[in-house]
Amino acid sequence: MPHITTSQGVWDLHRYPFRENDPLRAWDAADEYLLNEVATLTPKIETPRLVILNDSFAALSCCLHCFRPTMISDSFISRQALKQNLGGNQLPTDSVNFVDTLNYPEGIYNIVLIKIPKSLALLEDQLLRLRPHLTSDSTVLAAAMAKHLPSTAVALFEKIIGPTTASLMRKKARLLISSYDAGLETAQPEPACLNLDEFALKLVQHAGVFSMNKLDQGSRFFLEHRQKLPPAATIIDLGCGNGILGLVVAGMFPDAHLTFVDESYRAVASAKLNFETAYPGRDADFTVTDCLNGFKNDSADLIINNPPFHQQQTIGDHIAWQMFRQSRKVLSSGGQLWVVGNRHLGYHTKLKRLFGNCELVAGNSKFVVLRATKH
Ligand SMILES: C[S@@+](CC[C@H](N)C(=O)[O-])C[C@H]1O[C@@H](n2cnc3c(N)ncnc32)[C@H](O)[C@@H]1O
Repeated sequence: MPHITTSQGVWDLHRYPFRENDPLRAWDAADEYLLNEVATLTPKIETPRLVILNDSFAALSCCLHCFRPTMISDSFISRQALKQNLGGNQLPTDSVNFVDTLNYPEGIYNIVLIKIPKSLALLEDQLLRLRPHLTSDSTVLAAAMAKHLPSTAVALFEKIIGPTTASLMRKKARLLISSYDAGLETAQPEPACLNLDEFALKLVQHAGVFSMNKLDQGSRFFLEHRQKLPPAATIIDLGCGNGILGLVVAGMFPDAHLTFVDESYRAVASAKLNFETAYPGRDADFTVTDCLNGFKNDSADLIINNPPFHQQQTIGDHIAWQMFRQSRKVLSSGGQLWVVGNRHLGYHTKLKRLFGNCELVAGNSKFVVLRATKH
């Protein structure tokens, strides 16, 4: 059932993209834990100023919209889920203020709700950015399903925010409660650096972006076979992460126009930083969207793609499917989609079904590079 019953009301919530009869809920027991705690906390606070971080499908933000919270997220999908779920419950679209994780708004918050992300580096970066917005009146409540909670999370909260206690497990979810210690000394977060001498590239990337501190094995395998790419004038790096694939390909085709696309604000910001450093003065586009939403049909010669095989904590190939389907529309006649993926994911069959053709460019025991042409 897509209904969540909380002390704040009953709401109809769905994941984004919306799927009829979706077996997966838009919230979990960690959200319910946070909502229960907030219900006991808010009556004690005269003017609750609420900020909510990493609210995957905006369940917390919708349930708590009456406090006009700020929702901070790195995900365009979460932003779309917010719009969809506010609209679906006839709630005003301006009752929640969405901001991305690199641009915290001014002001002090007295209630902070955090869904703890998988990436500890992202959590650390978020806590460091959050700290200047807290005072000794602030309470930080953070929750995760116990199986996703990194073992060092409590230590990180103690290092950056202040004294932290872990509560009892409830429906396999764990809650951390942190209070602000004004005496702690912390620094502002810096993007990580990655030297890729073999490609003469020095990359930076914001915390939480795919494959921090090293080149992904799949991306490396793709790049080993890049000389087989066809010349192209318009190229899209779909699911660009820090931009590594597009950056190397841009070097091979100096006259090509590149567009870097990702649903992560941090990824697109990292790709932009890296492109501007590698190719000063060269024009390119940087787009935060869901797959290729908003792109014109028949507008690209080449799409390069290392697709994700999970959405937040849920493993599945529906995003890869959506990327392949939309690529077919966005490619011009004769245009090619190049995909790298784990051999066992069976992308070959999907591409063949969609495009009517799919060739193996290269393969080893783990990865395949595939090429599908739009006819
Ligand atoms: C396997 S990583 C590849 C990153 C980079 N291209 C590389 O090779 O290192 C997949 C990327 O797809 C992005 N992604 C996930 N879902 C997406 C969606 N719905 N639309 C656009 N990008 C998405 C992720 O944020 C991630 O950066």
